[in-house]
Amino acid sequence: MKAIRFLSSCSMILAILGQPVSSNVCSTVTPRVRKDCFPEPGASELECLARNCCWAPDNTPGIPWCFQKLDSCSVLPASERIDCYPDSGANKISCENRGCHWCPTNHTSVPFCFYNSKEEAECIAKFPINKRIDCYPQPGATQEACEAKGCFWCTTNLANVPWCFYSADGPYGYYLKSEPQKIAQGWRVLLSKRDTVTLFGDDISPVAMDIEYHTKDRIRFKIYDPSNERFEVPLNIDSPPFAAEDPNYEVEFINDAFLKLRIIRQSTGTVLWETTFGGLVFSNQFLRIKAIIPSSTIYGFGEHEHSSFKHNMNFVKYGMFSRDQSPAFGNLYGVHPFYMCIEHDFNAHGVLFLNSNAQDVTLSPNPSITFRTIGGILDFYMFMGPTPENVIQQYTEAIGRPFMPPYWSLGFHLSRWGYNNLEVLQDTLERLKEFDVPQDVQYGDIDYMDRQLDFTYDKSNFFNLPQYVKALKEEGIRYVIVLDPFVTKDEPPGSYKPYDLGQEMGIWINNSDGFTPAVGKAWPPGNSVFPDFTNPLTTEWWIQLCTDFKKIIDYDGIWIDMNEPTNFGTGQKQGCALNNLNNPPYVPDITNRNLAEKTLCPDSKTYLGHHYDTHSLFGWSQAKSTFYAVQNATGKRGFVVSRSTFVGSGKYSGHWLGDNYSRWKDLHMSIIGMLEFNLFGIPYVGADICGFNEDTNYELCLRWMQVGAFYPYSRNHNSLESQEQDPGVFGQKFATAARTALLIRYTLLPYLYTLFYHSHTKGSTVIRGLMHEFTSDPQTHEIDKAFLWGSSLMIAPVLTEVKLLNPILIIRGGDNVKCNLKE
Ligand code: NOJ
Repeated sequence: MKAIRFLSSCSMILAILGQPVSSNVCSTVTPRVRKDCFPEPGASELECLARNCCWAPDNTPGIPWCFQKLDSCSVLPASERIDCYPDSGANKISCENRGCHWCPTNHTSVPFCFYNSKEEAECIAKFPINKRIDCYPQPGATQEACEAKGCFWCTTNLANVPWCFYSADGPYGYYLKSEPQKIAQGWRVLLSKRDTVTLFGDDISPVAMDIEYHTKDRIRFKIYDPSNERFEVPLNIDSPPFAAEDPNYEVEFINDAFLKLRIIRQSTGTVLWETTFGGLVFSNQFLRIKAIIPSSTIYGFGEHEHSSFKHNMNFVKYGMFSRDQSPAFGNLYGVHPFYMCIEHDFNAHGVLFLNSNAQDVTLSPNPSITFRTIGGILDFYMFMGPTPENVIQQYTEAIGRPFMPPYWSLGFHLSRWGYNNLEVLQDTLERLKEFDVPQDVQYGDIDYMDRQLDFTYDKSNFFNLPQYVKALKEEGIRYVIVLDPFVTKDEPPGSYKPYDLGQEMGIWINNSDGFTPAVGKAWPPGNSVFPDFTNPLTTEWWIQLCTDFKKIIDYDGIWIDMNEPTNFGTGQKQGCALNNLNNPPYVPDITNRNLAEKTLCPDSKTYLGHHYDTHSLFGWSQAKSTFYAVQNATGKRGFVVSRSTFVGSGKYSGHWLGDNYSRWKDLHMSIIGMLEFNLFGIPYVGADICGFNEDTNYELCLRWMQVGAFYPYSRNHNSLESQEQDPGVFGQKFATAARTALLIRYTLLPYLYTLFYHSHTKGSTVIRGLMHEFTSDPQTHEIDKAFLWGSSLMIAPVLTEVKLLNPILIIRGGDNVKCNLKE
C-alpha cells in the first residue's frame, strides 16, 4: 500500500462541485399518455436522450419507449377530467397509487386526481386494478383465450395492468385444509386448491406452509409440496430448533371469506405482509404469490439497472435470471430477490425470496408485490429491522457476512481489456508514476492469456509477464488475473491440463443424460466445456490449477468473469431438446424470454440438479471455490471479484457492475447499483470508472475518477476497442485532479477499512443511501445522486456535463470540525 497522509477523523460533508439534484420529469409521465419522440424505427436509448426526451422501456404493445417530457397537468384539459378520487383524503401518492393523475388547480370543481380516459374510468370502477390477479402472465393475451381460462377480460390503458385477470378476493387459489398445527419452530398449515381455474396445469395440492420463528427479528415462511421434494437453494440459513421467544412480529391467520396470512410488526401493529391465498398458484412450473405491503418506499431487487434507487411501483416488472448482458432494462448478471421497505412510521423491514429459478416480480401501486417463479418452492425470510442498518445486519446474519477485503484492495485499481502487449502495459503504468497517481492494483484481462486459455500467458506479447509482475510487487502494486469458466476441449490431448484433469475428474456440467459433457462455444479456440462448481470435486480441481498457476504468475487475487455462465450460442452446440425444462409453459419476463440464450440448455445436469434450477447459482458457487483457491494459493486473505452473484455471494467476493457505457447516465446509475449491492450484502462494489463500452472523454472520465475515488471498489477498466482512459493518458492537469480525488480516498482509508470491518463482523453497509441515516426525513428517501460512507461522510458528486472544467473541492464540516484537504 502506498501510504499517503492521514486526516484526523472528522464528520464532514464532501462535495465535488456539488449541485442540486433535479426531480425526474420522465417518471411522472403515465405510459398511456406518452407522446412518441422517436416515431421512426430503431430508437436507442442514446439517440433518444440526445433528443432530450425520456427513455423507459415498457412491456405494453404500442407504448413508446422514447417519449416527450410531460407532466400530469398537461395530460388532459381540466374540462375533460374524470374524478378518480371522489372520496376525501386524496394526495399525490394516494392518487398515483390508484393509477391516476395528480394535478391540483385553483378551481375546486375540477378534480385534482383524474383518470386518463372515460373507458379507463369505467373499467377501473368495475374491476379495481389493485384487486386484479393476472390470469395471463405470458405475452399474447386475447379475450377469447382469457375467457377460456374462466377469467375476466377488461382492457385499460394503464401500462402493465393485467387485462385478463381474476379477483384477489377469490374464489380461486387455496383454502385451509385443516387447523394450523403447532411445530417446534412455529406453525404448519395445510392448504388445498379450491378452484378449477388452472393457469398452466400441473397444480399441486395440498401444499404445506411452515412458519418458523427463527430469531426475535427473523421469521421464515415457506410453502412447499409436502409429498414430493422440490429444488431448494443450498444456502443453509440457520434454522433454530425451537421458536424464538418474544419475537418482534406477530402472525395472523384470517379464515373468513378468504384465507389470509398477515405478518405484523409487534410494536406498531403495522401489517408488513398480507397474502390472500385466493391468489396463490403452486404448480410444478409456475408458482405465484402476491403480498400487500405497507408502503411504496421500497428498494432492492437485482441485478438490474434501475433508473432510481427508490422503486417506481407503477406496475413495473423485473425479471431475474443471471445473464451476460450490459446494463440495460433487463435481467443482468446476478440474482437478488431481496427488498427493503420503509414503513409509514419510518421503521424498516426486509424480505428475501430465496429461490434461484428464473423469476419476475411486479411492483404495483396498491402497494403490492407479485412474485412469480418457475421452480423450487416459495421460501420467504423477513427481517424486522427496525432501522435500515438493522435490516441489512439481520439479512447478512442469515445469508453470510461479507468477506473482509485485504487493505491493499481498498486502493486504486487499474485494468483494461486490450493492452495487448507488455510494452503498452508498462507505458501506462509509467505515466501514472510520472504524474504520481496512486495505484495499488493492476489487472490482467484475457489478453494476457495465450489464445484466451485460462492458466496460460501469452509468451510472445507478454513474454516477460512473470518477471514484470514480480517487479510490480516489489513496488507495492498487486496483480489480479481474470479467469473465465469455460475450458476448451479441443487442445491436443495431454497438452492442456485444465481440460485433461477436469475430464479425468468428471467435473463438467453434463447434458440431460447426466454424463456427456455439455459443449458450448466461448472465447478459447475450439469448443468448450463448463466446470460444475456445485460439485465439491470441482473445487479441488480449481484449487489445484489456481495453486499451480500462482507459481508461474505471482498473482494476488482472482477476477471471475463470464460466470452467468456465458456461452456464445443458445444452449449447447447441438441445440436444446423440446421438453418442459427447456420450454416451460411460462417464461418469466427475462430478455427475449429465452432461458437458453447465451447460456446452456436448462435440462443440462449439474451435481445439485438441473441447470434449470442451478443456472443462477453458477457465479455464487464459483466465487466460493475461488475464494478458497486464492486463500490456498496465496496463503493470505482471499480477494475475488465476481461478475455473477447470488444471495450470499458477499461472503466470498466483491462485484463490479459489469459492462457499463462511457455515458453520463451510467455515472449516475453506478451510484444506484452500488447502493443496491450494499443492501444485497456485497459492499465491496464499484462500476468500471470512465465506462467500459465506447470511448470516454476528458470531462466524463475526470468526473468519473472523482466519483470512483469513493467507490468501495475503485477500478478504472476499459473494453477492447476503446481508446485509453487511464488517469495518466489525458495529461498533467487531468492526472493532478484525479490524484487529488484519490488522495482524499487514501487519506480516509482507515475509515473505509473500519467500515469494512463492521460489515464483516456486524453486517453493516459500507456505502449507504441518505435514507439509511435520515430515515425519518422522507426527503432523503429518493436521493440517489449522493451517498454516504458509513454514517459520517456524504459524497455529492457532479454527475452531469458542465463543459466548464474547473474542478474544485468543497469541504463542509460541522461547527467545531476543521478539515482542510486543499493543500
Ligand atoms: C466481460 C467483462 O465484463 C469485461 O470486464 C472483460 O473485460 C471482458 N469480459 C473480457 O474479459
